[in-house]
Amino acid sequence: MLLSLLPAFLAAVPLSLGGQVPIVDGVYGGVRNLTTSSRGNVKPASLSVTATTPGKIRAVENTGICETTPGVFSASGYGDLTSTESLFFWYFAARENNDTAPLALWFNGGPGSSSMLGLFQENGPCRINNASTAVTLNPNSWNTNANMLYIDQPVGVGFSHGTMNVGTSEEAAANVWTFLQIFLSDSRFSSLQSRDLAIWTESYGGHYGPTFAAYFLSQNAAIAAGTISGITLNLKTLGIGDGLTDPLSQYPGYITYAGSNPYHPLVSTSTINRANSSWLSSTGCKEQITACNNNGSNKVCSAAQSFCNNNILSPLAGNFDVSSSVLATNPDPYPPDLTSYLNKIGTEAGAESTWQETNINVYDNFAATGDWMRTSSPDLESVINAGIRVTIYDGDADYILNFNGVEAMTNSLETQFTSLFQAQSFESWTVDGQLAGQVKNAGTFSYIRIYGAGHEVPAYKFGTLAYGEAALQMFQQTMAHQSLVST
Ligand SMILES: *[C@@H]1O[C@H](CO)[C@@H](O)[C@H](O)[C@H]1NC(C)=O
Ligand SMILES: *[C@@H]1O[C@H](CO)[C@@H](O)[C@H](O)[C@H]1NC(C)=O
Ligand SMILES: *[C@@H]1O[C@H](CO)[C@@H](O)[C@H](O)[C@H]1NC(C)=O
Ligand SMILES: *[C@@H]1O[C@H](CO)[C@@H](O)[C@H](O)[C@H]1NC(C)=O
Ligand SMILES: *[C@@H]1O[C@H](CO)[C@@H](O)[C@H](O)[C@H]1NC(C)=O
Repeated sequence: MLLSLLPAFLAAVPLSLGGQVPIVDGVYGGVRNLTTSSRGNVKPASLSVTATTPGKIRAVENTGICETTPGVFSASGYGDLTSTESLFFWYFAARENNDTAPLALWFNGGPGSSSMLGLFQENGPCRINNASTAVTLNPNSWNTNANMLYIDQPVGVGFSHGTMNVGTSEEAAANVWTFLQIFLSDSRFSSLQSRDLAIWTESYGGHYGPTFAAYFLSQNAAIAAGTISGITLNLKTLGIGDGLTDPLSQYPGYITYAGSNPYHPLVSTSTINRANSSWLSSTGCKEQITACNNNGSNKVCSAAQSFCNNNILSPLAGNFDVSSSVLATNPDPYPPDLTSYLNKIGTEAGAESTWQETNINVYDNFAATGDWMRTSSPDLESVINAGIRVTIYDGDADYILNFNGVEAMTNSLETQFTSLFQAQSFESWTVDGQLAGQVKNAGTFSYIRIYGAGHEVPAYKFGTLAYGEAALQMFQQTMAHQSLVST
């Protein structure tokens, strides 16, 4: 019944991939009822048949696509995990002092969504134009003083190709670790081994970020103990934007935000009441997530994803665009679609397969394990306690990973900084004198709510600030191992 409340164009399309969160049978983040597992399916290298080189990088350099600042090195291509598993990457050296700058990784979410979204819509050296035909240089690019590495993962996502065997964040972490071993062994990039390493991610990255970071640290420990060999990853920083980390603390945020947020209610009171009942009933969403988190089977977790997204996440979105901002109704043309542009420049950038914003096969593999509903808070807590600087940020115009949920998640963390964090009240955060958000800093942990920003925070502007200007200040302060302070 609730499905009938969805906009007709959503309900009519069995699968639509607008934005980073797939829509399945009209349900944001829904679960397809597949009779056979899609694990092991292959995303083909349909554009080109260059032989893979397992354990090595294949890349083109300085194509001049996107980064047109003179003298700034770039490279794009593949790291071949095996002969049948290739991850696509795009590396941009820092515009300033690339020989001493840290290395920051960027991952979009989905699961199944391409990191080209971050590169071309959010924080890369260029931005797609509104007509989706060309790009313009981004003065607030995150490669201003960090070396940036955008990775399409897991296998099958974006321009990556090969056998799709990943269906959990843990499995994704292992493949990304292997990719980095390959990347940092290449003579063009080996000087980056000793630099500070950062993970930056968004949306489903609320799972990826903590899982990858915890995995890197455990691999480092195994290298130090001599139980495995490999390159130690010099992880210093984790940044998560609008992330899904802990569904149990975050799902009530949908109910709160849909009724009351800085802009306008998203749906009627009766819709909110129905969702609240679905959350609280004895067989409801809260119980199902709890059962999943209590060592639940894949089936239990997958059923929780289906139930909660059918009855809470989707109906409460109303007619607003969940993948952009609640300031726009469906379908929001902003941020502009990348498909035609990326398929035009793909071959020149060394890509060998057709670009898709989200790979449904990868998404299905994750939906089948219920990874969505498992909590990444324990990994996040261990990463914070290991002394990694962590910044959690959230745009206040985002519904799908709204600040009510993300703040409930940050408040539920139990770390060395918990009492300090809970004793804080929000402080105003300004950028160049413009009020741009509110922040709490506690030790090496920071949380910031960014004003006027939708789901892809760096894609937005606010007040007197330019697109991405507030996000760049947050990124730069975090990368410099500082608390988030006003300028
Ligand atoms: C999934 O599909 C099968 C076969 O079509 C059907 O028997 C089953 O009831 C469906 N399950 C759900 C949860 O819809
Ligand atoms: C740093 O920039 C120089 C000059 O463009 C380039 O030759 C070099 O490959 C870059 N190195 C890295 C690791 O970015
Ligand atoms: C949800 O229902 C509970 C129990 O009836 C009530 O206390 C709470 O205020 C409701 N929440 C919202 C947002 O309506
Ligand atoms: C979790 O479930 C698995 C498989 O059902 C079982 O082997 C394991 O002992 C359980 N772990 C805990 C901590 O309950
Ligand atoms: C692009 O579109 C957005 C919203 O759809 C609008 O706010 C912005 O002004 C447009 N940019 C240009 C350069 O026209």
